[in-house]
Parts: sequence; structure tokens; C-alpha cells
Amino acid sequence: MRIYERYTDAELAEMGLSGDRPKHVGIIMDGNGRWAKQRLMPRSFGHRAGMEALHEIVREAHCLGIKTLTVYAFSTENWRRPIAEVNALFGLLTEYFEKEIDELDANGVRIVALGDLEPFPQKVKACMVDAIERTKNNEGLNFCIAINYGSRAEIVSAIKRIVDSGIPSAQIGEELVSDSLYTSGQPELDLIIRTAGEQRLSNFLLWQAAYAEFVFTPVCWPDFDTAEFRRCIAEFMKRTRRFGKVVE
Ligand code: IPE
Ligand code: IPE
Ligand code: MG
Repeated sequence: MRIYERYTDAELAEMGLSGDRPKHVGIIMDGNGRWAKQRLMPRSFGHRAGMEALHEIVREAHCLGIKTLTVYAFSTENWRRPIAEVNALFGLLTEYFEKEIDELDANGVRIVALGDLEPFPQKVKACMVDAIERTKNNEGLNFCIAINYGSRAEIVSAIKRIVDSGIPSAQIGEELVSDSLYTSGQPELDLIIRTAGEQRLSNFLLWQAAYAEFVFTPVCWPDFDTAEFRRCIAEFMKRTRRFGKVVE
């Protein structure tokens, strides 16, 4: 089992990553199917390779000192895919947790699910719930997995929770809405990376992305490695974030 070490300041300087790195990075892991197709293989082959890429990126996020990594693993719209692909994805997800949980836990990673786990098969759900339960007091990287996640569904569920709590409308503000979303308690989203060239959000973190920077890379998710991840972070660090203000 690997124990992850944080990079030293000297190592970060060598990588060109000294300075304010993002606290919260979201990744739309896209292109598994195309990656497989290029190799004349079934889509599930791409999903398996994608799972291996995820292993490396979670470790790298920890080493770079990122506080929260949110990955988009399965959208509310992905139920529209053929049932065999959906089942293959669930199988891989279960396998991922069974294989990775000891290492993640030993490295202080806290696993959080963003999305409604209810519709999943019992085995997938149990495995996710166990991972969340087991790591809930860890204080290292927050590893948020958006699974059966859709940002619109998330906002609707937040509205329902607020209405059901009986809070008068005069007391509803942005902070309360933020605190009612699945990402409650996580730092502000700084950066969204989408792989495989598509330039859209596909219902990912709509509210949270208000002031996030976007980096799009043509690399398909299974080929997304630590070097490409660092390149995306370096690109983020070059941006000037104004938040509406005038920056001299
Ligand atoms: C991302 O890869 C994985 C999921 C959406 C679950 P895709 O399966 O969307 O791959 P492409 O976009 O078809 O290449
Ligand atoms: C977004 O990718 C969802 C995930 C990465 C889990 P999709 O491949 O489903 O998005 P669209 O359909 O191209 O917008
Ligand atoms: Mg896709």
C-alpha cells in the first residue's frame, strides 16, 4: 500500500506550481468511450482504464495539497445509456472502492458522495456507504464523488429542504443555499477541468461554478496523467481572477 507524501516547496517550485494552488478542483472525467473506440475496444475497456487514471489523480491531488477533489463519475442523465454499460460502470465503481478503500483511508482521504445513492443496486450502495462511513473523520483530501449527480436535481433538493424547514423567505440567502447543496462545507470551487475536448458542464456544479475557472484538455480521461493534471493547475494559476472587482 502506498503512503502519499506532500510535495515540498522545492518540488512544487520545480514543477512551476509555487503560489496559490486551487483549494477545490472539479473534474469532468470524459472520453472513456472514445479512448476505447480508438483502440477498437468496447466502451467498458475505456471505463476500466479511466478507473486507473482516477487512482493516480486522487494521489496527486493529495500530494499537491488540494483540499477537495470532486469528480463527476455518473450523471443523472447517464441512466439513458444502455443498461449493460450502466451495469458495467456500477461494477467498476464497486471494484474501485473495494480495491482502494484501505489505501485511501490510510492516507487520510475522506470520501463524500454527491448525489442520491438510493436508486443504486444494493451492493454498489453498501460499498459506497461503507467507504463514506469508514472515512468520515479523516482530515486529509476530501474526495467527493458525484454519482447519480445532476446539478439541477441538487438545486431542487436544496430548495425542498429549505421550504420544508419553514425558514421565512426573508432569511434565505446565498449562504443558506450553498449550505443546502451536496457540497456544503467544501471550499469554493476554484477550477473545473474537463477532459476529451468537450466544452460544456453537462449539469455539473452549476451553482458552485459561478466564479470557477475552466480548463479544457483534449486528452481523454484514461490518458489524463499527473503531468497533464499539473499542466491544468499551472494554467489555472496563470489566470487573473477578478470576482467583479477592478484589478490593478
Ligand atoms: C466518461 O466517458 C465516463 C462517464 C460519463 C461515465 P464517456 O463514457 O462519456 O466517454 P465518451 O464521451 O463517450 O468518449
Ligand atoms: C458527463 O459526461 C458526465 C460524466 C463525466 C460522468 P457525458 O459524456 O455524460 O456528457 P455529455 O453527454 O457528453 O454532455
Ligand atoms: Mg462523454
